[in-house]
Amino acid sequence: MNKQNNIETFHISTYGCQMNLADSSTLVSTLITRGYRRVKEEDQADLLIFNTCSIREKAEQRVYGRLGEVYKYKQKNPNLKIAVVGCMAQRMGDELIRKVPHVDYVLGTDRLFELPDVIEGLEGTSSVMTAFGHENMDFITPVKETPFSGFITISRGCDNFCSYCIVPFVRGKVQSHSVDYILESVRKLVDEGVVEITLLGQNVNSYKYEDTDFSRLLELVAQNTDIQRIRFMTSHPMDISRRLVDVIGAEEKVMPHIHLPVQSGSNRVLKDMGRFYTIDQYHKMIDYIRLKNDYISLSTDIIVGYPSETGEEFEMTLDVVRKVRYDTAFMFKYSSRPGTRSAEFTDSVPEDEKSDRLIRLIKLQQSIGYEQNQREIGQIKYSLVEGFSKRSKDKLRARTEGNKTVLIPVTEKIEPGQFVPIKINAADAFTLHGEIVEVS
Ligand code: SAH
Ligand code: SF4
Ligand code: F3S
Repeated sequence: MNKQNNIETFHISTYGCQMNLADSSTLVSTLITRGYRRVKEEDQADLLIFNTCSIREKAEQRVYGRLGEVYKYKQKNPNLKIAVVGCMAQRMGDELIRKVPHVDYVLGTDRLFELPDVIEGLEGTSSVMTAFGHENMDFITPVKETPFSGFITISRGCDNFCSYCIVPFVRGKVQSHSVDYILESVRKLVDEGVVEITLLGQNVNSYKYEDTDFSRLLELVAQNTDIQRIRFMTSHPMDISRRLVDVIGAEEKVMPHIHLPVQSGSNRVLKDMGRFYTIDQYHKMIDYIRLKNDYISLSTDIIVGYPSETGEEFEMTLDVVRKVRYDTAFMFKYSSRPGTRSAEFTDSVPEDEKSDRLIRLIKLQQSIGYEQNQREIGQIKYSLVEGFSKRSKDKLRARTEGNKTVLIPVTEKIEPGQFVPIKINAADAFTLHGEIVEVS
């Protein structure tokens, strides 16, 4: 027990993207090194941490809801401390404590790693810290996510300021980690048993450290470390280069999956969003990606109901989905975020129209995802076994090269963390089903 603060145990809940997951893992490891113990149940913790997301209003509402619910623990245990960290903490600062007075600490995206110092009341800390300010974030040690996989953040922040997006405000200016930091991080995780890493950035294609761009970085990681599989996200269509596509095709360790958020099928909307590509350019890049890769899995993000999006413009989005034939898509209703450029516009598409558009889009994508998955039947996919199926203890869950989940019958010989050849026997819209085969 830390004598100054009576805090012995902590519980952490993480919302939002993989970068938050990666940050949470690092924070957990720092707290454990400092002598605190992680517990699975909130009611057993002396410190409750919420690592938060601001991307859509719903993401924030969920956290407010949870903060309301945990008030009861505070009544039972007056020593209990509540820390809100990450993007929502960054966006709201002091205001969060004014709105939810039982919150004790608010630490923004550049400051959350100082939480152990803050709870111990070390000099120079305070209960609300949201200033950006680290010149160099290479001090952050990546920690594996599972015994065999991990995330490595290669760049933090974003300078793109897409009209709808809160990320540049809550994550600050883009900053690329050094090449040495990234290579050392990969080697550290490999030494700890990791076989698959995902390189993370809001826009990995704009990675730049001295002379190294993202395609060169991928080559360096593939050629100079013993990692077996490399994934990365997110690619911005504005910055994806043909050379990067060539590297993905040439380097066996780089997995054949690209997440390339299109957002909208209308050039007018894309221009308004500040995405800096046209649909024609986007399709040309997709054609080049398919030309250079016999097999590639493609995913995307799409926003429906952007302010002023007409029915016709929405149809253009459906056309892109029909033409590209994504394997997976993340589809969202536009959510106005305070402080962003598009928050100034009238949120002109009525809520039920947004919902209608979203339903139509999801339906279309589901049927395309189903058809894309059918094409994998009969093929053998080398997949990484990750654990039990979320729904059934009779099935193991594995991940294919193309980032698809495949379920196989449980066998005693196979353990999580192993690569196995799986023959795909069946597929639905979201999942493949198969069995392990002998390959000579
Ligand atoms: N850096 C990534 C996106 C990160 S946010 C990129 O540029 O592609 C993940 C996704 O959330 C975005 O691609 C977008 O589709 C969605 N999103 C972001 N802001 C949103 C908003 N205000 N309303 C609805 N969806 C939003
Ligand atoms: Fe947001 Fe655009 Fe930056 Fe992606 S590129 S994080 S959508 S501002
Ligand atoms: Fe959300 Fe922050 Fe990620 S706003 S999507 S957690 S960068």
